[in-house]
Amino acid sequence: MRTHSLVAAALLSVACQRSAPPSPTRESDEALLARADSAAVRLSTTLRERLVAAIRSEGPAAAAEVCSRQAPEIVATLRRETGVTVGRSSLRLRSPADAAPSWVDGWLRAQGERPAAGVTGLRVVEGDRARVLRPIAIEGPCLLCHGEPDAIPAEVRAVLAARYPDDRATGYRVGDLRGALWAEATRSSGR
Ligand code: HEC
Repeated sequence: MRTHSLVAAALLSVACQRSAPPSPTRESDEALLARADSAAVRLSTTLRERLVAAIRSEGPAAAAEVCSRQAPEIVATLRRETGVTVGRSSLRLRSPADAAPSWVDGWLRAQGERPAAGVTGLRVVEGDRARVLRPIAIEGPCLLCHGEPDAIPAEVRAVLAARYPDDRATGYRVGDLRGALWAEATRSSGR
């Protein structure tokens, strides 16, 4: 259990931000970008909170199950609540549901497999659409479920093998670029 608490503490130590409510008037480009960005941050924060809570209370194998069940629900809820399309993706997918839209795929391919240091994201507005992309780096606690297969606890490997027969998201090291957190918001005048 000690290892689990350490992992949970390490995950908790990463700073979080809260999202702002959508603007009631026609949005400026900056406000549109901010809305997309805050939905992306909310996705990241919510996933992290759930992961920490699950590792703490139930251990890593149960956490992997919780994560696999809850991550798609969190994405769907956030899309519904904010009107922003959000997601996470990678060149090495665990879940096929996390397949990248083409603009994210293009960014991922342009980066390739590499350390996350020096990688910058995207913030662009085209017409009435804002796109935001933030790079995701591998941190120590992520290795529990994304590290070298030998270093992943056997009970976690069993959950992953059962749920993700085509899992490609192992073998990472701390500092590697894991993928992208992305969001796309459309300008609205009435929200
Ligand atoms: C308890 C196990 C566990 C831990 C710890 C964990 N993940 Fe995952 N990760 C999963 C599972 C299960 C999925 C597939 C379900 C989903 O979409 O979350 C996943 C999916 C992802 C995805 C979506 C892309 C894909 O391959 O489907 C990213 C990005 C990701 N993880 C990054 C991280 C990062 C970064 C950390 C550390 C901060 C981390 N994970 C820690 C289990 C874990």
